[in-house]
Amino acid sequence: MPQPVLRTERLQLVPLADEHLESEVELDGHPEVMRYLEPRPRTREQVEEFHRRRLALATEASGLGFWAGTAAGEFVGWWLLDVVPGDDRQAELGYRLSMRWWRQGLASEGARELLRHAFGDLGLTRVIAQTMAVNAGSRATMAAVGMAHVRDFRAEFDEPVPGAEHGEVEYAITRDRWLAGQRP
Ligand SMILES: CC(C)(COP(=O)(O)OP(=O)(O)OC[C@H]1O[C@@H](n2cnc3c(N)ncnc32)[C@H](O)[C@@H]1OP(=O)(O)O)[C@@H](O)C(=O)NCCC(=O)NCCS
Repeated sequence: MPQPVLRTERLQLVPLADEHLESEVELDGHPEVMRYLEPRPRTREQVEEFHRRRLALATEASGLGFWAGTAAGEFVGWWLLDVVPGDDRQAELGYRLSMRWWRQGLASEGARELLRHAFGDLGLTRVIAQTMAVNAGSRATMAAVGMAHVRDFRAEFDEPVPGAEHGEVEYAITRDRWLAGQRP
């Protein structure tokens, strides 16, 4: 199944494409957006390489990939359903929004739609998400869409960002739990 165009009340989510590269350069080049992700903002060359890998994901996994989100025609950020290595019944959720769109309920609005796609369209059984323990916004977004904390873990980084010493967290939601949350 190719990645479909997805819609929410405010967002249009389209498969990431070359037309989004400039927006990705701006997003990954912003120090506050990248605070919990990289020791320094990414250069254009680095983003171009990530862009190629992001596009490749859609060709490797049915229905998964990166979606660029727009609201009223403006780029808001991207949402992701990634492969979980060795388990094609699961996917990993991710998101990254431009700072001017933060705290407006948009990350969770898009994430809810990706969960609907994962469980409703693709029939996956479980979706996970990982972030740094200190990334309060990301954790709150996971909780807002019904995901629950399942474990703490340590990740190895060549150049850890401040806060990495507190470790990483994983959240998850199963299809059954998601279905239970859809009932009125
Ligand atoms: C994390 C991020 C996606 C949140 O996006 P957002 O659009 O502001 O999130 P929402 O408005 O949908 O908020 C969802 C919940 O998170 C809470 N939240 C958002 N940012 C928060 C923060 N910095 N601290 C605490 N809570 C926060 C909101 O209050 C809301 O909680 P509620 O449902 O209980 O009201 C955004 O800050 C971002 O793109 N950060 C940079 C990239 C990043 O860290 N991505 C995740 C890496 S794993």
